[in-house]
Amino acid sequence: MDHLITPHGGTLVNLLVTAERAAEIRECSREWPSIDLGQRELCDLELLLNGGLSPLTGFMGSADFDLVCSEMRLADGTFWPVPVTLDITEATADELAIGTTVALRDAEGVMIAALTVEEIFRPDREAEAMARFGSADPGRVRVSRFLRRTPPVAVAGRLEGLQMPVHYDFRELRLTPIELRRKFGRLGWRKVLAYQTHQTMHRAQQAATERAAQEAGASLLIHPVVGLNQPGDVDHYTRVRCYQETLPQYPTFLARLNLLPLAVRGGGPREAMLHAIVHKNHGCTHVMVEQNGEGSVLEVFGAPGFGDAEAIEAVTDHVEDLVIEMVPSDRMVYAENRKRHIPGSEVETEDRILSLSGEDVRKRLADGREIPEWFSFPGVVRELRRRQPGRNAQGFTVFFTGLSGSGKSTIANGLRVKLLELGGRGVTLLDGDLVRKNLSSELGFSKEHRDLNIRRIGFVASEITRGGGAAICAPIAPYDTVRNEVRELVQPCGGFILVHVSTPLEVCEQRDRKGMYAKARAGIIKEFTGISDPYEIPEDADVRIDTSRVTPDEAVREVLLYLEREGYISAVEGQFVGRIAD
Ligand code: PPS
Repeated sequence: MDHLITPHGGTLVNLLVTAERAAEIRECSREWPSIDLGQRELCDLELLLNGGLSPLTGFMGSADFDLVCSEMRLADGTFWPVPVTLDITEATADELAIGTTVALRDAEGVMIAALTVEEIFRPDREAEAMARFGSADPGRVRVSRFLRRTPPVAVAGRLEGLQMPVHYDFRELRLTPIELRRKFGRLGWRKVLAYQTHQTMHRAQQAATERAAQEAGASLLIHPVVGLNQPGDVDHYTRVRCYQETLPQYPTFLARLNLLPLAVRGGGPREAMLHAIVHKNHGCTHVMVEQNGEGSVLEVFGAPGFGDAEAIEAVTDHVEDLVIEMVPSDRMVYAENRKRHIPGSEVETEDRILSLSGEDVRKRLADGREIPEWFSFPGVVRELRRRQPGRNAQGFTVFFTGLSGSGKSTIANGLRVKLLELGGRGVTLLDGDLVRKNLSSELGFSKEHRDLNIRRIGFVASEITRGGGAAICAPIAPYDTVRNEVRELVQPCGGFILVHVSTPLEVCEQRDRKGMYAKARAGIIKEFTGISDPYEIPEDADVRIDTSRVTPDEAVREVLLYLEREGYISAVEGQFVGRIAD
């Protein structure tokens, strides 16, 4: 393997301990505190253990963190673009002290590694946002999400790996850096171009990668990220089956496929450079960089503080630090008259260019319309169709939000019955009161508890939706941020329809079916929504219903009509909808 590219920093790290040491650690670990890792941290840990993040030998401490943010250097001077920290909440930090050994566990409780704490610190998250996104302006969506969601403390120390995180899927395609390097050795590959993507590959991407590999005189490693899906991504099971359909389209011996357990953070050129390092550690000598969105290779650009050109420049400026070749890629377009894909830069005025955006493709799949032969491979389209049946076979969540007494439960109940009458899907009603009784009985009405309540509802609804059912939720859900979280959670599983029951406060108060408004006015019930607690009106509601203006039947009908218009219930059912108001 000597002829292969040297890992970043010189040596390929392996943090897995011997079987004897692992047994010893397990034996001692009963009394240790644990940290249950999220998907993102687990991905980082996997790449730390297997050397994908060489020369890092653990999560970063403050010296590395600060220098990486300000200078893109580790404390020992090695080039490193992005912080890799183990972020923990205050509550977890309170359980730890210097010298404590803590078990790092996956979601099932399996201990993956032991961390002996050497430092607990508070990373400067604004500096980190600047490094990742080129901006610390909380007015920017990605920045604010990062600042909001990243816990305030980080822990670092000696890391000992007991086993690699467990994967049951596509095991033969999950080669570690050392295994992949051995494979390249066997294949006689010296120059290897990495193509990283988190999207499906169609003809344009296949043509672009084939061309780039041939121009670089390199073999091609299709190296898709399968660590953590980005919102809107096709699930990795489907994607991998699609890549397997694309592989035979390359000339024999040109391309191989391997899966990369990387959690993409959407962080601009610095993250692109991190990815380049990861590919280098896996034995790749070249990496494709494409500045354009759809199907792009290192599609981490578009961080709020960077323009495309700046991003490319930032990466190119550090090619020497990275010691890997960046292969710029031209967007391939389909020229109908030439009956093939050509680079965008070679388009002549007489060329008739056909194009379909990612959104077009998603819509066509959702509506069951044709995906043209020139755009994709039949096998890929078949896999995408298997995953995404038309909307009338998909699950969905109808999420009602509105004040107490606004009529949410009445409409939700009516909708439940009508959907059951239509048949074809299981229907689950997660009414505010029901949930409070069965799922959230210990919760009160502080903002924190309400948000937790809504997250629980969102989780259950997403699982019902994933299974093809209809979930109807009817809590007050007064806060915008957590409603958006639920939307993001449910949408990858099927449909999400937000219905704002906008009945005015005066009407709700006048109705006062449960006598709660009177008690709230009298100060007997505290933090009552609309009286002594806020309700944030959703600007993004798909349907708005004011029950002081329509009857319950009409309200149910409006929701059904929306579902029909969006294709979740079909035309036959539409006739049925028509009868409701009769
Ligand atoms: S939230 O904000 O979404 O978690 O609320 P939710 O789970 O829907 O619970 C709302 C029902 O609880 C009763 N209740 C209160 N509502 C608002 N504020 C306070 N402080 C409060 N205390 C009790 C109230 O009856 C709500 O039921 P609905 O059906 O909406 O009237």
